[in-house]
Amino acid sequence: MTSKEELMRELAEEVWSCRKCRLGSLRKNAVVGEGSLEAELFLVGEAPGRVEDETGRPFVGAAGRLLDRLLADIGLRREDVYIGNILKCRPPGNRRPRADEVEACTPYLERQLAIIQPRVIAPMGNSAAGYLLKRFGYEAPSISRVHGRCFEAEAPWGRVLLFPLYHPAAALYAKELLRILEDDFRVLGGILRRLRGAP
Ligand code: SF4
Ligand code: URA
Repeated sequence: MTSKEELMRELAEEVWSCRKCRLGSLRKNAVVGEGSLEAELFLVGEAPGRVEDETGRPFVGAAGRLLDRLLADIGLRREDVYIGNILKCRPPGNRRPRADEVEACTPYLERQLAIIQPRVIAPMGNSAAGYLLKRFGYEAPSISRVHGRCFEAEAPWGRVLLFPLYHPAAALYAKELLRILEDDFRVLGGILRRLRGAP
């Protein structure tokens, strides 16, 4: 095992037995995250939903299928990126994460970021964008005002770009949001190509 794999394995074991907030006793499965430990792009959602809680995998319900399609449109497979969430356990009825839950859980996300050391972090939706923009010293107004924009930041492992997106679940039933999300993904695809030095 590489040291990245070892660190992620240790982290997963901690998460699976974590009871740092009330959600720990309500879950069927904790959802650590999945994808490439060498990913340049780290996508961050809000929290597991019903199917994620049942399977232990991130973004495998309807929103996940849309996310897979949006990635495919820019030439990426789920295995090429890393997909995680702000919270690792499902809030009852998919309610929004509470501040104390975010505070208890985000040290795990921070460790995942430090292990993977992505060049682009794409928070999806208000919870993830709010946390990550503030984390890197930005104000965090509503996602409707920050989606599709690049925010440069200095992470412990080097420069990163924050690129907030609408949450795919929000775009499932709103055609207008879906078009915006598709446009933002195209921009994201261009950013990743430039980072790789492609024309
Ligand atoms: Fe622990 Fe996070 Fe689950 Fe709360 S949501 S029990 S902090 S893993
Ligand atoms: N919505 C999220 O924010 N995360 C998931 O993993 C699934 C749905």
